[in-house]
Amino acid sequence: MSLNIAIDGPAGAGKSTIAKQVAKELNAIYVDTGAMYRAMAYFMLQNSVNKEDSEAISAKSKEADITIKYENGQQIVVLNGENVNGVIRTEEVGNMASVCAVNKDVRLKLVELQRALAAKEDVVMDGRDIGTYVLPDANVKVYLTASSACRAKRRFDELVAKGEKPDLAKIEADIIDRDHRDMTREFAPLKQAVDATLIDSSNMSIEEVKNAIIALTK
Ligand code: DC
Repeated sequence: MSLNIAIDGPAGAGKSTIAKQVAKELNAIYVDTGAMYRAMAYFMLQNSVNKEDSEAISAKSKEADITIKYENGQQIVVLNGENVNGVIRTEEVGNMASVCAVNKDVRLKLVELQRALAAKEDVVMDGRDIGTYVLPDANVKVYLTASSACRAKRRFDELVAKGEKPDLAKIEADIIDRDHRDMTREFAPLKQAVDATLIDSSNMSIEEVKNAIIALTK
């Protein structure tokens, strides 16, 4: 059986940075499931689908062919034949992803893809429902979190580094809103799996978090 490591947690907890490094150290593939939800959200935004209309989201999701491939070790998300990596990292797409992620049809479609990958490859997969729903038998499960103030500050610094002029209070309000939606949705909400190890990264370096997860695999 392939090695499966599940890392769940709220937005901005550092999941992708950590998961990438853990995957590299273990010679496994990093699977960013949030990017799949973002590609779906991008498709909805492109098609002006109303975020309040769950039937329209369900119907439109059937037209979205989302796959992932790897180039030089980097995950490329392909939406209807087009590489969308460069357009899915905005706050607008992130917020819409959280809305689309409430939709059961969207989730079932993407979960199928995630499970198929984990069955054939050693993976470090990050998301919201990996340990609780996608890979309930994962070898290691981690719930990675940090305070909302700390997560907002990290997002803020990333955007400043990209030359943007973000509003810290707005970022934190969006994060709290997104956490609430991700944690309270009916189907596969964000929560710590009973057998997951809780890591609060608020006062930890990336290296410390990575080492803590590697230690769990031994
Ligand atoms: O991790 P991220 O910010 O790229 O994720 C975007 C949104 O996708 C997030 O608000 C919730 C949703 N998501 C999810 O519901 N389940 C996952 N496994 C991954 C992401």
